[in-house]
Amino acid sequence: MNEPYLFDIYPQIKSISYDQDEILNSISRLYLSGSSFDLDVTYGKGAFYRDLPAARYKFDLNPSAPEIMPGDAKHIPLKDGCISSAIFDPPFLPGDGGGGLMIRRYSHCGSMEDIWNLYRQGIKELTRVTVSGAIIVVKCQDCLNARSQYMTHLEVGNYAIESGLYPIDIFILLARSRPRAWNHKNQNHARKFHSYFWVFKKANRNIPYSMARGLKK
Ligand SMILES: C[S@@+](CC[C@H](N)C(=O)[O-])C[C@H]1O[C@@H](n2cnc3c(N)ncnc32)[C@H](O)[C@@H]1O
Repeated sequence: MNEPYLFDIYPQIKSISYDQDEILNSISRLYLSGSSFDLDVTYGKGAFYRDLPAARYKFDLNPSAPEIMPGDAKHIPLKDGCISSAIFDPPFLPGDGGGGLMIRRYSHCGSMEDIWNLYRQGIKELTRVTVSGAIIVVKCQDCLNARSQYMTHLEVGNYAIESGLYPIDIFILLARSRPRAWNHKNQNHARKFHSYFWVFKKANRNIPYSMARGLKK
């Protein structure tokens, strides 16, 4: 008789999924003892909470409902060290503030530099408002803009390490389709069909982390 493979018996928590809710549930089970986030600083429409209970503190620069408090992720209106888990999902595309509702939610009125600055300041603020041992999740997506590659997930990892956070996990959300620009004729780079959920831990001691760890000079 053939022995069943272990992966047939135990449902595994995987690093990839086509389903955002599955990724959020995996993060909750692995790192939040099955609970939801304390704080969401870019709440939007609350799409993260189809399966999980809504975050206790909900902020957004442009709140879409009365239960969401107005707040800038660069200056979170909370005192130091009062939050044990948080999620951050700022706009990831540069834009001019025009276009349809979806474009306005996912794009930022400004340049790529402004977007990266928002990630950097937001991560710094989240480090300030969280307790030691806290879990901080950052959703991000790389993008191609004006023929330049912007590997935002690398920037985000570096900003977190710079703020003293430890990258404890990463999940990749896959997309089955992407809208195609009407003026897209020649393709020079791979079209991106994925985004990331970084999971960082605010460790209670400084865990040395560096790309060069273990390498001898
Ligand atoms: C990608 S959407 C978030 C989607 C959200 N996770 C959801 O489930 O609907 C980005 C959100 O960040 C908000 N935002 C943009 N700049 C911000 C800032 N500086 N501080 C807080 N929120 C901001 C936008 O209003 C928008 O709702």
